[in-house]
Amino acid sequence: MCGIFGYTGKRDDAGSVVIDGLKNLEYRGYDSWGVACREEKGILVAKDIGKISAVESREFGHTCCLALAHTRWATHGGVTPANAHPHLSRDRTIAVAHNGIIENHEALRKELMQKGYVFLSQTDSEVIPHCIEEEMCAGYPFAEAVRRACLRFHGRYAILAMHEPTGMLVGARTGSPLIVGVGDDGYYVASDIPAFLEHTRTVQYIDDGETVETDGASIVFRDIATGQERQKREVRITWTVEQAQKGEFPHFMLKEIMDQKESIARAVNQDEDAIRRVAEAIRSAKGTFLVGCGTAHKACMAAEYFFSVVSEHHVNVCSAGEFKLYHHFLAPESLLIVVSQSGETADVLEAMNIAKSKGSKVLAIVNVEGSSISRAADYTLLINAGPERAVASTKGLTGQMSVLLLIAYALKHALHEGKTLLLETGALINDMLNPRYVDRISAIASRIKSHEDLYIIGKSWHYPMALESAIKIQEVSYVHAEGFAGGELKHGPIALIEQGTPCIALVGNDEVTADIINNATELKARGALVIGIAPERHAIFDEWLKTPDAAAAQPIVSIIPMQILAYELAVQRGKDPDMPRNLAKSVTVK
Ligand code: G6P
Repeated sequence: MCGIFGYTGKRDDAGSVVIDGLKNLEYRGYDSWGVACREEKGILVAKDIGKISAVESREFGHTCCLALAHTRWATHGGVTPANAHPHLSRDRTIAVAHNGIIENHEALRKELMQKGYVFLSQTDSEVIPHCIEEEMCAGYPFAEAVRRACLRFHGRYAILAMHEPTGMLVGARTGSPLIVGVGDDGYYVASDIPAFLEHTRTVQYIDDGETVETDGASIVFRDIATGQERQKREVRITWTVEQAQKGEFPHFMLKEIMDQKESIARAVNQDEDAIRRVAEAIRSAKGTFLVGCGTAHKACMAAEYFFSVVSEHHVNVCSAGEFKLYHHFLAPESLLIVVSQSGETADVLEAMNIAKSKGSKVLAIVNVEGSSISRAADYTLLINAGPERAVASTKGLTGQMSVLLLIAYALKHALHEGKTLLLETGALINDMLNPRYVDRISAIASRIKSHEDLYIIGKSWHYPMALESAIKIQEVSYVHAEGFAGGELKHGPIALIEQGTPCIALVGNDEVTADIINNATELKARGALVIGIAPERHAIFDEWLKTPDAAAAQPIVSIIPMQILAYELAVQRGKDPDMPRNLAKSVTVK
């Protein structure tokens, strides 16, 4: 949550560089924005509520070589211009952008106010420039003052601070992401790589508990606790600028749905020995736990069925935020598998800490290379989906499910069978995602778009896909959608069905087909409009969206028309599917 981007170097358009770069990170938060530029007259700050995408970058910092900017997702203090970052020190020589939470901000604020510091916002963040200024007043140079101030902060955060008199840019990271882009023309420091991708693909990772300080010509990393210098290597990243842009598509969400024509094959293209080693680790573990949040959690739930149906192996699945009390089940021989698109989700990181404190091993399945989760895990498998920018995860989910299904096949000693199935599924998805198919879904969306309630049912691996379909529809179209296990209908939800209520049944060709058709029939008997997502037409369907028959990969196929339906509902109801209200893509606070 919140995006940070700073630049210092030879360029003299630093203000527009950071604003344009932050437009690529707007998925991190978009309720307000702000920029600080080091100009001749001192630090100039502009900030406001609203989206940074609407800001004309050319208006800012045309004669400045040092600037930082921020997009906010409010936690402490409402969405107001005063609460937008950057925040300034009392003497206006220090500007700070912050992501995360300073948990002891109230105590610090009280202490600073007693010393005469005045606060202009309600944010926890405003204590940061004041604490840095205080350390400087005690005689410490800027970078050292930032480090010393960090020792006073509790919580998980990333900070970027600039100092007008010296032209220094200093970052600090404890729990929230911050990455350095190393350019020929200076240094770029951002919450995520797409901010600077068009300037450089060479990065240096700042680890938790480290600061970074640069004057634009050289860079130094230090341990926050000791001040000791740390050496860093440069890493070349594989993402391209094109992958991070929406190209001819009107929205990132649609682009990323369409990316699934190729992303399944990329997810499956794993080192076979590595997959077999992971399968062996699961086989020998005393308890395997799969955790994730939101959509990634639904991938874990689907995997529970993959492991059961394909490899007859029991795994435990839990939402990462609920994992805390599972520590009683953990031992050094346990295995935790964490699933995350961004690799930055706070609850997932906490689950990892719990497992590590018990000596358990952690495997991460993530999309973002070099992310906090992948760096903290004992071993990482990348899903290689390419950058995912829309808040609603689409290709991230199917990449995660593909890797998990592949592992389930490896556990059955049938890795090649699984790989062939998934590559064929990728080809089927490629055929399915044609313009006629999207038009057909668009027509169904237009038939149901005025309904405020929508129910989705599924059984077996289609149960988590029903839950995931509901999340997709809720978050982008704001329709009240709920997913149920088909068998649960009679235990309550069927009371909600009225004449014409749209109900979607996710159906495969498997051992539960007859059961889910029976459940759909029960809905129809109460007046529901039944929409079937299925390889075959069943008489009970009022509307039928055909899906290819993909055996154990069926849930990967079935979720795709639901993603398109959610997208279409959003667009037809006049909503921006890329930036749903109140949400952020990367949830770095608990
Ligand atoms: C947020 C996003 C979801 C995502 C979840 C977990 O809620 O909006 O799309 O599924 O976080 O994120 P992760 O990056 O860990 O997969």
